[in-house]
This record gives sequence, structure tokens and C-alpha cells, in this order.
Amino acid sequence: MAVIFSGVQPSGTITLGNYLGAMKSFTKYQNEHECYFCIVNQHAITVPQEPNQLRNNIRNLAALYLAIGLDPDKVTLFIQSEVPEHAKLGWIMTTLSYIGELERMTQYKDKSQRHGSGDSIPAGLLTYPPLMAADILLYQTDYVPVGDDQKQHIEITRDLAQRFNNRYGETFKIPAIHTPEVGARIMSLQEPKKKMSKSDVNSSATIFLLDEPELILKKLKKAQTDSENRISYDKELKAGISNLMAIYALITSKSIKEIEQLYDGKGYGQFKNDVAEVIIEAIRPIQERYKEFVNSDYLDQVLTDGAAKASQKAAATLNKVEDLMGLSRRR
Ligand code: TYM
Repeated sequence: MAVIFSGVQPSGTITLGNYLGAMKSFTKYQNEHECYFCIVNQHAITVPQEPNQLRNNIRNLAALYLAIGLDPDKVTLFIQSEVPEHAKLGWIMTTLSYIGELERMTQYKDKSQRHGSGDSIPAGLLTYPPLMAADILLYQTDYVPVGDDQKQHIEITRDLAQRFNNRYGETFKIPAIHTPEVGARIMSLQEPKKKMSKSDVNSSATIFLLDEPELILKKLKKAQTDSENRISYDKELKAGISNLMAIYALITSKSIKEIEQLYDGKGYGQFKNDVAEVIIEAIRPIQERYKEFVNSDYLDQVLTDGAAKASQKAAATLNKVEDLMGLSRRR
């Protein structure tokens, strides 16, 4: 039985990209592996958050974790800030990190650019990866299921684990990344060379898991394609239509070849309607379950139990780390 860890930021409503790129796969792991799924709210505050909005987003994400089919009897579901070992090991990982390697992270470069000069770039954006490394390493994780955009973060996690092991002795398991073959990068509906993102300012670019059916259809109809009106897969030259094909393939489990055959001679209008329909049907039961969970006491119980279970495992790793580093009073 392998250990699986992954996290999602409660920095907005979950997108179809989050779901197809990462969360959908979580449900597959739960029957065979020891799974930890986290709401990484301390990562979310690396950029300013409105407190009430953040509180809502945390709860919505927790309810969505259950709504997609995660079973709390099989997985440990918890909120990062409720397990203090994350921040503690996060600090230790920060002290092991070099500023140069943190500055080279593409996510840091992208996000810091939006904040202007060094005087207004939140330092948490720079120290984001060591906290993420802590998340993963606390559980002696074997596999981290994530989308493509997290690759660099998993690589630095491996480097930090190795660095600690070399310096203080074998402590951390070196985790491996798991990305889906198709869907590791769902693209924006408006700028299909850019990934679909929670924080896109153009609201037509992103499908949110809690969007109403009519809105999904509207966004699909507006999706950028090309002028060929031919449904065939070419990520470079036909990025828009290829993205829609990938979404359709992931939801229906049809291959890209099958989709090309199915839509041979048919136009974009019909295809867009059909993609909207499969998305709507796929997320309808998720939305229904979400409504049952979001205001329930059951959800609070799941999160309370999850934090206790996670903390137990995390504390064992952190104690060992503190011993080895000489932080603890006695060995
Ligand atoms: P976050 O919250 O941005 O995204 C959550 C998950 O969704 C994936 N994802 C996508 N996959 C395909 N296409 C897209 N357009 C798309 N957008 C997002 C992400 O790759 C991710 O798997 N740093 C992480 C959160 C984190 C974490 C961790 C993840 C913190 N600690 C430990 C794993 C392990 C993040 O910002 O994900």
C-alpha cells in the first residue's frame, strides 16, 4: 500500500482543470492506498485573501472533496492550518532552501510579476515551495497526484528531501509525481495556450465545478477555436478545439481517435454543445452531493477527525526531524 498525498488551494472555486487534472484521480487511489488530501489554506494566504471569502472557499472545497466521491472512512481529509506540523516543518524546509532555487520557480516568477517590485512582492510567494515540500514529506509520501503545473514544485520537494537526508541521515521518503496522461493541463477556454485557472480575470475562460448548466453552455459556445470547422487534434495549431477534445475524452473515456471519427464531417457548433452536455452531466451529481454536505455538521466532523489522524502521522515525522537536527532538548 503506497502513501498518496495531494493538496488543493482554497483560493477560489474549484475549476474543471482542478477536477480533471488532479481531483478526479484522487477517488481512484482511495480503495488501494493510504491517502491524505489537504485543503492548503496556508498556501492560499501567500496572496492576500478576504477572510470571509477564504472561510467560505475552505468549506466549499471540503464539501467538494466529499462530493466528488472521497470516502472519509478510506481517506484522511483535512485543513492544513489545523495540523501545525505543516507550518513547523515548512519553516525547517525554508531554512534548507536557497534563495536562488526559490527565485527560479516559474510560479514565483509569474505570480511575483503581478505584484510589481520587491517592496510589494509577498515573501510567502517565495517560500511557497518549502511549505509544499513539508506537506508532502510529513506523510512519507510515495506519490503526489497533481497537474502538470506542479512538476517543478515536486522536483524541489525531492531535492529538499534528499538534501535533508544527506545532511542528517535517511529520514524522508523521496516522493514521485503522478500526472494524468491526458488532462494534466486543461487550458483556458478563451486563451487556449494558457492553463485554465481559478483566478483568470476573464470569467468566460474558466469552468467552475459549481457553475449552473446554462452558464456552462454559454461559456462553451464562446470558447475560442479556429476557422477550420474540422474536429481533429493538434495541440499547437488547433489548441482551442484540442482542449475541448481532451475535456470530452477525459469525461467520456473515449479516445481522441474515437472522437475524431465520431465527429467526422460535423461542425464546431454541435461539438461545443455536446462537450457542454457531457460536462453538465458529469458535474450534476457532484453539485447535488455538494449541496448536501456544505452546511452539514457531518462535514465538520470529517475535518476534525481528519486533522487528528493527519497530525498523528505528521508528528512522528516531525519529532524525528527535530531530534536529528538538535532542536529537541533530549534525544
Ligand atoms: P492548485 O490549487 O493550483 O491546483 C490543485 C490541483 O489542480 C491541478 N490543476 C490543473 N490540472 C490540469 N489543468 C489545469 N488547468 C489545472 N489547474 C490546476 C494542479 O496541478 C493541482 O494538482 N501548489 C498546489 C497546492 C499544494 C499541493 C501541496 C499539491 C500545496 N501543497 C502538496 C500537492 C501536494 C496548487 O497550487 O494547486
